[in-house]
Amino acid sequence: MIAERVKMGIPGLDRMMGGGLIPGTINVIVGSYGTGKTTFATQFLWEGLQQGEKAIYISLEENEDRIYAYMAEKGWDIEKYRGVALTVLKFVPYDFNLAINSIKNELPVLIRQIGATRVVVDPISLFEDLFDTAATRRQEMFRFVDNLRTQNCTILMTSETDKDDPYSSRHNLIEYLADTVILLRYARSDAQTDVHLTLEVVKMRRSAHSREIKPYEIQQDGVLVYTDANVF
Ligand SMILES: Nc1ncnc2c1ncn2[C@@H]1O[C@H](COP(=O)(O)OP(=O)(O)OP(=O)(O)O)[C@@H](O)[C@H]1O
Ligand SMILES: [Mg+2]
Repeated sequence: MIAERVKMGIPGLDRMMGGGLIPGTINVIVGSYGTGKTTFATQFLWEGLQQGEKAIYISLEENEDRIYAYMAEKGWDIEKYRGVALTVLKFVPYDFNLAINSIKNELPVLIRQIGATRVVVDPISLFEDLFDTAATRRQEMFRFVDNLRTQNCTILMTSETDKDDPYSSRHNLIEYLADTVILLRYARSDAQTDVHLTLEVVKMRRSAHSREIKPYEIQQDGVLVYTDANVF
């Protein structure tokens, strides 16, 4: 029985996972563009900061200022955590060796130095893109995730979906490595007149979890999951 959970700070989703994520696990949010991956990830960090935790945001997409601006727009008093409890790092994934080595080797060191208990990598799929063969990607990602698992830190990665399969991450790999997989998706009504955002907890190692598909909305101040509503 695992008593303590790491709350994502999205009440409906936390309930679907038996209270939240399991401390020290590797978790991934898979979804296509605009489904709210970054919003979920920032909410997870914000929740930790408010609990007095230290956090790291590794971004492969947006620069530091844009990430702070994005969080401030939610009405969060994020500036007071900047460089104190929250460290934001932008990795530019154009230099293959530099990006891979810095993420692989420096992230575990940084986690320990800072004493971070929450880390976001957004999106991990851009990092995975850097490997030139599927075999190297698998081997390196396995090592990377295994190494992160030994840190006393809860990790949340985001991943873009495959362009032909809204149920799979782009490289169809991270969902096997992660302990928890949360899938974000667009659901269209039969008449194709409405689009809903839906989420499901596809997998959660060492825990019971909901298998229902629930609608959610991205609102000005964060994500709202309609746990009492059904999509189907
Ligand atoms: N203030 C807001 N109010 C309502 N909806 C918003 C607000 N801000 C963002 N959104 C919605 O959230 C979506 C983007 O969310 P987010 O950036 O978290 O998605 P993402 O999955 O990370 O996207 P990407 O794959 O492009 O990085 C927008 O397309 C919009 O629908
Ligand atoms: Mg994003």
